[in-house]
Amino acid sequence: MTRDRSWTVLELLQWTEGHFQERGIETARLDAEVLLAHSLGIPRLQLYVDFEKPIAEPERAGFRELVVRRGRDRVPVSQLLGSKEFWSLELDVTSDVLSPRPETETLVEAALSRLPDPEATYRILDLGTGSGAIALALARERPAAHVTATDISPKALQIARVNADKLQLSDRLRLLEGDLFGACPGEQFDLVVSNPPYVAERERGGLPPELAHEPEVALFGGEDGHAVLTRLVAGVSSALSPGGVFAVEVGDGQAERVAKECSEKGLDEVEILRDLARRPRVVTARRKAEPG
Ligand SMILES: C[S@@+](CC[C@H](N)C(=O)[O-])C[C@H]1O[C@@H](n2cnc3c(N)ncnc32)[C@H](O)[C@@H]1O
Repeated sequence: MTRDRSWTVLELLQWTEGHFQERGIETARLDAEVLLAHSLGIPRLQLYVDFEKPIAEPERAGFRELVVRRGRDRVPVSQLLGSKEFWSLELDVTSDVLSPRPETETLVEAALSRLPDPEATYRILDLGTGSGAIALALARERPAAHVTATDISPKALQIARVNADKLQLSDRLRLLEGDLFGACPGEQFDLVVSNPPYVAERERGGLPPELAHEPEVALFGGEDGHAVLTRLVAGVSSALSPGGVFAVEVGDGQAERVAKECSEKGLDEVEILRDLARRPRVVTARRKAEPG
């Protein structure tokens, strides 16, 4: 992308797409469009109207910087933009939090279908909230619910706070720092939901380079990826009110073991749900209601 001639929008997109492809980025065209639109301060679709428009050097400079950080450093697009859409909520993200993934919307759907009354004053706990994605989506969809969101990372909680304030959901969101259930000892909830770190340490070498820009504590769950999942299942019964629901995201290939652990801990109605790509990615269960 030389500085010594003028470039049109289309030429910039084509050059950048090719550059990203050479670097092994699968979403090369989309990333080029999103970053150029961001640099120019216009909606992405406007690029198609402006294909022949020349872009002057001062405007190109900011774009060039983003292209280097994406292509060479493999910084995720969400971090370059500073935001990510989840459940139609625009969330701030930084390198201190996991950028919420679309597949986590399957977890939100599962949780909502098990808390069906939009007017109920459900007590909800989101363990490992990161940007606040799940907690804020649930708070938005269940406007009478009281949501507690925890994280072991104080920096993540700061981002969750910013997002809650921006979305005007702070009055129903309590943020607590701590290690899993240790953040709210002795409390009970109608729903405990979590997308915990579940990547296996032994897979570290084969991961996409983008993951190096996300916090380790958000990704890795011990040697086989199950360390936090197993602790979650072990502690969840006492954090659930009778009849309360547990919903957890798991990695590909982990659902059967987590489901088995739920049954072994005496939870009922254990189910494995698939994401949009048909992969088993969510386990749900329920604490038995008290007899009588
Ligand atoms: C996979 S990220 C999920 C973030 C967010 N809930 C989402 O779905 O986008 C896991 C989160 O759990 C937090 N975490 C990791 N270990 C934890 C622990 N022992 N107790 C509480 N939070 C933990 C991390 O800091 C991180 O924010």
